[in-house]
Amino acid sequence: MRIDVLTLFPEMFEGPLGYSIPKRAQDKGIVEIALTNIRDFGVGNYNKVDDAPYGGGPGMVMACGPVFDSYEHAAKQHPAKGRVIMMTPAGRKLDQKLMRELSSEERLILIAGRYEGFDERIQEGLDAEMVSIGDYVLSGGELAAMVVIDGVVRLLDGALGHEDSALDESFSGGLLEYPQYTRPEDYHGMTVPEVLLGGNHALIEQWRRQQALERTRSLRPDLLEEL
Ligand code: ADE
Repeated sequence: MRIDVLTLFPEMFEGPLGYSIPKRAQDKGIVEIALTNIRDFGVGNYNKVDDAPYGGGPGMVMACGPVFDSYEHAAKQHPAKGRVIMMTPAGRKLDQKLMRELSSEERLILIAGRYEGFDERIQEGLDAEMVSIGDYVLSGGELAAMVVIDGVVRLLDGALGHEDSALDESFSGGLLEYPQYTRPEDYHGMTVPEVLLGGNHALIEQWRRQQALERTRSLRPDLLEEL
């Protein structure tokens, strides 16, 4: 898979993409992630990328030129057209279903901007989908784009080791994770449930399923309605 990101702050992505699963997936060639700095397509001596809104009002608006130009620059680096996605709180709310959908694409082009807004013609002109990571406002779309990348990359074939894959199954079932324990058996009087120590795999399976259901029912009943 190829993922392009258009952003004013490419450096922000180095941390989250430079460790653990996203790093391993890139090293293995499972995903190629390319960052395009919108600032490189800014106008004039100061590489200006935004301007005051027509009609007045506070804040600045990201201008068409630098965003369209950075898109063209990124677009021609790979043959697949891909899905163009603008990160904005106005978009479709991200969930595991959308993560799975996006992970089956050959290419994604993510656009991260400042919240005050993009010139409306950017979304129209690029026919971009809008995606939100939740009903709150971040100072920019970068963190949101990183959330998408992390969630998508771990679903790609070969990105997870064997052990981790099993973990994904449990959320795919639409339930919260069952409780996990590791050594020691007794930590300052807090003990591990007896059933896990017994080695009866059928019983353990049954207990875990029941725990996952109970947890989901008490903490996230809304997830059960979606099943
Ligand atoms: N940009 C600012 N807030 C955002 C959010 N909640 N989701 C996606 N992009 C954003």
